[in-house]
Amino acid sequence: MKKIISRLLLLVFLSLPFSRSIYADQLTQSKPRVVILATGGTIAGSAASATQASYRPGVLSISQIIASVPDIEKLADLKGIQISNIASQDMEERIWLELWKSIDHLFSNDLCDGVVITHGTDTMEETAYFLNLTVRHTKPVVLTGAMRAATSLSADGPFNLYNAVALASNPISANRGVMVVMNDYIFSANDVTKTHTVNSDAFSAPGFGAMGYMRDGAPQFYRENSNTHTSSSVFDINGVKSLPVTEIVYAYAFSSAVAINAIIDSNAKGIVIAGVGHGNYNKEISKAIERGLSRGVAIVRSSRVAEGGVDLAAENYDIKAPVSFNKNPQKARILLMLALTRTKDCAEIQRIFAEY
Ligand code: DGL
Repeated sequence: MKKIISRLLLLVFLSLPFSRSIYADQLTQSKPRVVILATGGTIAGSAASATQASYRPGVLSISQIIASVPDIEKLADLKGIQISNIASQDMEERIWLELWKSIDHLFSNDLCDGVVITHGTDTMEETAYFLNLTVRHTKPVVLTGAMRAATSLSADGPFNLYNAVALASNPISANRGVMVVMNDYIFSANDVTKTHTVNSDAFSAPGFGAMGYMRDGAPQFYRENSNTHTSSSVFDINGVKSLPVTEIVYAYAFSSAVAINAIIDSNAKGIVIAGVGHGNYNKEISKAIERGLSRGVAIVRSSRVAEGGVDLAAENYDIKAPVSFNKNPQKARILLMLALTRTKDCAEIQRIFAEY
């Protein structure tokens, strides 16, 4: 009986005009909380004129960038934090670790509902994948950037940032792994890569496609990310000061073994081979791989080819180096770095590449 009376009273209260406005106010006041971590890039870039192609990345502050996007404040309660202001070819391990620490602190203390990272596009896919493997939370983390400077005619950064905030604000974005939003596309950090050096349609996911699209400030998802990520990841980098040094060696016609042998003789703990075709390389490189493995360097076979990945059905090689499956060389390097924080065992490294 008491329940019925209290429900009736609530209905009466909500039917009164002033309560609806209070209630509505409550609703508008409970906008999602989104923190934007700014690292630099073209989205913060400045050119001498609105039509000049060359520009300086990492010039505008995050508050200037947010101010340049009409209506973005309607999407969420925004807070901008300037982590760095660099061109992303200058990305550093310390910035990765600072991004991870900031996100983990924000989510662990329920200080926001989603995080957006503004980033240069050259290494955006790498930062996104690193965070996809290490941010052990379900709340959305979305990276975005721009291919035209903020001062350019038809700059793409403002709408990319609007879309990124809209995606990070939406509860439907939770537990999908780290995402990249560029040119209205939603990509999974797991398979996105930069496939055009200058065009505003610069990103794709060869062989997989986008996860979905942003339309009218709302995400339309068309597929899930099936690899293990974020809250299901085993990689705990809390307290990690540096990651195992892991390099990439590019294979090509009559490639020498100078580079790979120099890496083996350095303090590298891991090497990824960007092989030709299905992760192949010549006998020079093959000999050096055997030398590296015998000296305890972890080596993974990837491919310079955009689609198809590398699996274990290789040509008649007797080398036991694990394969990268669908990870391109730059992604395989990140996964190998993190795998090496847990194991040096070839079989375990291969299992990790099959799962992540
Ligand atoms: N130097 C590039 C970078 O910061 C500019 C490209 C961009 O951000 O779009 O990644």
